[in-house]
Amino acid sequence: MPGEPAEIHFLIEPLGPNYGRAAFSCGSKELDSYLRTQAGQDLKKRAAVPFVITPDHRTIAGFYTLSQHAVDLGELPEDVAKKLPRYPLVSATLLGRLAVSLQFRSQGLGEKLLMDALYRALQSSKQIASAVVVVDAKDEQAAAFYRKYGFIEFRRIQRRSFLPMATIVQLFPE
Ligand SMILES: CC(C)(COP(=O)(O)OP(=O)(O)OC[C@H]1O[C@@H](n2cnc3c(N)ncnc32)[C@H](O)[C@@H]1OP(=O)(O)O)[C@@H](O)C(=O)NCCC(=O)NCCS
Repeated sequence: MPGEPAEIHFLIEPLGPNYGRAAFSCGSKELDSYLRTQAGQDLKKRAAVPFVITPDHRTIAGFYTLSQHAVDLGELPEDVAKKLPRYPLVSATLLGRLAVSLQFRSQGLGEKLLMDALYRALQSSKQIASAVVVVDAKDEQAAAFYRKYGFIEFRRIQRRSFLPMATIVQLFPE
């Protein structure tokens, strides 16, 4: 329709050298600084893979990171733990960080990033097992965001929560 702004299409891809990291601002100094100074190192040293959401292959509208992880079986709620084998450590995927730039907030990008991360975790778990996706919320607001999507809190670790892969499978029927 003439006069209506054109819809912006966003793409999610691994962080690369073409991205202007310094311009990213999400309201959290820790997360901004992570993207500027640490994300590239984590990628290089294989500690985590950062993915970005972008409208133009240059601007970072948001990002998240994924890495392999393990959690203590005893930290999971009893009803979840009893469905898992009795190994002391449960294989997991860590969604280490997730943030959307202030400029692009409240347009559904946080949800897009989260769903993309869960989908990648699910796909990857078919090759290298992972029973849960774990997130660390930086504050109560972030914890509320994850709760909205069904994340369950750990028994003793504050603001750490998880989503069983069995739940994630149901989000992406084949
Ligand atoms: C949390 C964050 C990623 C949400 O990003 P966003 O792009 O604004 O979120 P979306 O527009 O995709 O929102 C998706 C849904 O989540 C809801 N939501 C957003 N932030 C929320 C919060 N803090 N608590 C509860 N629900 C929230 C929205 O209302 C929306 O729900 P609706 O579709 O029913 O209206 C963003 O606020 C952010 O980057 N915060 C700073 C960093 C941070 O806290 N990261 C979390 C990990 S440490």
